[in-house]
Amino acid sequence: MTRGKFIALEGGEGTGKSTQARLLAAALEGRGHKIVITREPGGTEGAEAIRNLLLHPPGKGWGARAEALLFAAARSDHVERLIRPALNEGKWVICDRFVDSSRAYQGGAGGLGDDAIRALHQFGSEGFRPDMTLLIQVPPSEIADRLATRDNGVSDAIGGRDAAYHERVAQAFAALAASEPQNFCVIDGQGNPDTVHQHVMAALEPLLAGDAP
Ligand code: TYD
Repeated sequence: MTRGKFIALEGGEGTGKSTQARLLAAALEGRGHKIVITREPGGTEGAEAIRNLLLHPPGKGWGARAEALLFAAARSDHVERLIRPALNEGKWVICDRFVDSSRAYQGGAGGLGDDAIRALHQFGSEGFRPDMTLLIQVPPSEIADRLATRDNGVSDAIGGRDAAYHERVAQAFAALAASEPQNFCVIDGQGNPDTVHQHVMAALEPLLAGDAP
């Protein structure tokens, strides 16, 4: 059995990752692949329980280190119980966020630094990385319009942080993509979902070449 491929979609809030994950899943199914579509934090029963703790924290909320550990713990369960087994069964896994979200949010914007997040990921998930990470980028002004429509003024513990935090997240993602071109493919997320989907399919060409399932 040929191992499946693991594709992660990354980017800030409101960049259209979930929509692109769905469009990509449909396109890959059309090519005959079996698809698992999942998200972080979450994806397994345990990781979804941790998601709830992260996005709706009890009491005073989490400190930066505890929060980073919880993301890493959720990811560890997700990798071990869902992602690796699916890939070993030949399925393709599409994940809405993965470790590079922890690197950008907790490591970059949250100030913990990249070494700390990579160390947590090394311990939690043996440093497991996607075959391809697509970073969807949208200018801040367009994001503000999208989020005003999408969230209707309601957001979670992380999405609700201030604009400066989200600007640092965007900068951290951009810096990661620039310094690790082998790990990232940057996608222009402006415009309608079908146009962005064409960019996604073009970026995946190397992975799709000769992909008879
Ligand atoms: P979610 O509702 O899934 O947001 P989105 O639709 O933007 O993906 O909530 C996930 C939130 O958690 C989002 O604000 C990003 C944040 N996050 C981190 O801070 N670190 C991480 O490692 C991950 C996976 C998510």
